Amino acid sequence: MPTKISRFLLLFLALFFALPEMHSQSAPQAGDAPWWKHAVFYEIYPRSYMDSNGDGYGDLNGIASKLDYLQALGVDAIWIAPCFPSPQVDFGYDVSDYENIDKTYGTLGDFDRLEKLGREHGIKIILDFVVNHTSDQHPWFLDSRSSRTAKKRNWYIWRDGKAPNQPPNNWISGFGGSAWQWDDKTNQYYYHYFYPQQPDLNWRNPAVVNAMYDTTAWWYKRGVAGFRLDAVDTLYEDPALKDNPVLPGKDDRGDPNMRNEYNQKLPEVHTALQGLRTVANKYDAVLIGETWTSDVNELKRYYGSRNDELQMPMDLMFINLKFSAPVFRQHIAGIDASGGWPVYVIGNHDKPRSWNRYGDGTHNDHIAKDMAALYLTLRGTPILYYGEEIGMQNNDPVRKEDVKDPVGRLTWPTDKGRDGERTPMQWNGTPNAGFTTGIPWLPIPVTYRTYNVADELQDPNSILNWYKGLLALRHKDPALIDGDYIALNQDDPNVLSYLRKHNDDAVLVVINMSAAPQKASFDLKPQGFNSGHAKTLMTTQNMGATQKLSEIALQPFAVYIGEVAK
Ligand code: NOJ
Repeated sequence: MPTKISRFLLLFLALFFALPEMHSQSAPQAGDAPWWKHAVFYEIYPRSYMDSNGDGYGDLNGIASKLDYLQALGVDAIWIAPCFPSPQVDFGYDVSDYENIDKTYGTLGDFDRLEKLGREHGIKIILDFVVNHTSDQHPWFLDSRSSRTAKKRNWYIWRDGKAPNQPPNNWISGFGGSAWQWDDKTNQYYYHYFYPQQPDLNWRNPAVVNAMYDTTAWWYKRGVAGFRLDAVDTLYEDPALKDNPVLPGKDDRGDPNMRNEYNQKLPEVHTALQGLRTVANKYDAVLIGETWTSDVNELKRYYGSRNDELQMPMDLMFINLKFSAPVFRQHIAGIDASGGWPVYVIGNHDKPRSWNRYGDGTHNDHIAKDMAALYLTLRGTPILYYGEEIGMQNNDPVRKEDVKDPVGRLTWPTDKGRDGERTPMQWNGTPNAGFTTGIPWLPIPVTYRTYNVADELQDPNSILNWYKGLLALRHKDPALIDGDYIALNQDDPNVLSYLRKHNDDAVLVVINMSAAPQKASFDLKPQGFNSGHAKTLMTTQNMGATQKLSEIALQPFAVYIGEVAK
């Protein structure tokens, strides 16, 4: 155990050496590339990041207090999950006012302060725009439901039932049950793809479209650098409300399986995205999409045929891949060749933590480093999910009565909902992990005692320092910033290897994705690198400063990253 003095000395040395590594005020710009191509994004679930006032919920001032940390980590932009006024049925994804801040998270003044401090730290702010639906408490919906002739009646989707007590069609909500809610006041049904408290906006109404475009401009003028667009797939519905084709079997909520042919991914979605992009372009802003797709071709469409839709549709297929060299190799090849700028994500607030999902139960820390090495050295823009950089683990509720995410109560115990991946950030080893002085809104896993920022900063081999090293490297190495992706040793079933090559510079990345030691050998003469050696940049195992390319011996799950010499 280091003494107090030696701990202080260690901290001093770490800070001293880290300072020159901190990247400058904004993401490196190479050539004419737009800022977001070389930026590192970081998703923050505001409820869980840092509580500044002891109420047990994270807030904007809490985020502001962690900007030094984020800057030192190498983050250039933070995407804050919805922080707008909301009844919090879906924790902010049910917005009741698009142009304000929920009092749990602070005030507009706090937002302005965060934005200004962010700028001083070289960190841009991305907000989460819930475009498909509002809260049922939004004044637009309150007006809409007040009478059949209300001014905003047509801002949402109202229909008569097919027959008494029968909804207009067979559409099923993404959160279970019919997607139609009966409303006694006006004796009609309204449509909600998500919870009944989240009525879908009617994007066929130009007044809605304009109001939504104006909202984005309102935030851009306040300094927001872009939006993550929520649930874009469900913006439009078939006007004739045709029944979806029913497939065999039921899902885990007991609803019939069906193909969402008439209420998802309609072509009109692309027109809406073009409109949002036109506004974004005026402010040099970026649009990130929540784009769940089943293949690369589907993903490609979101860039727009003239690159006029989303600059950053997320490759969310990546999240569902099995941890295996051939699986990732094949997937990356498809994405890299697609012509769009790849956007890689390994976790978010809707999926179990990456540490658990890719982990094999024994080598999870190593695998977490492998995944980081992989997606932080690929060509494209990465989006980190808070806590992933310290190896945060899923913490599912133990009892149904503790579940906060309504979807978890519906599917309990098969699926325990999304609380597990949304627990408070683990800042240190003190009670409540330094997140709050009050009672945290979700319980913190006991693993916070070893997986936390303060302790990991002191440990040169921690997951956090591995992330910091990788991000520092990708900010300064031209090959990692702009190099091509060249897959190597494509028949190797265990080791994933590739080159990032930019003019005369190249970085070799070698990841042993297996639990056995492996040997890898490279001949890079065809790529113009004749020396047969690499200069070691980063590795998870002990290796010399120079490495012979003909024999790289890798321990289980080891990573080697080297600069290739001519
Ligand atoms: C996707 C969001 O990521 C999720 O958390 C939310 O519940 C739904 N969209 C509905 O807004």
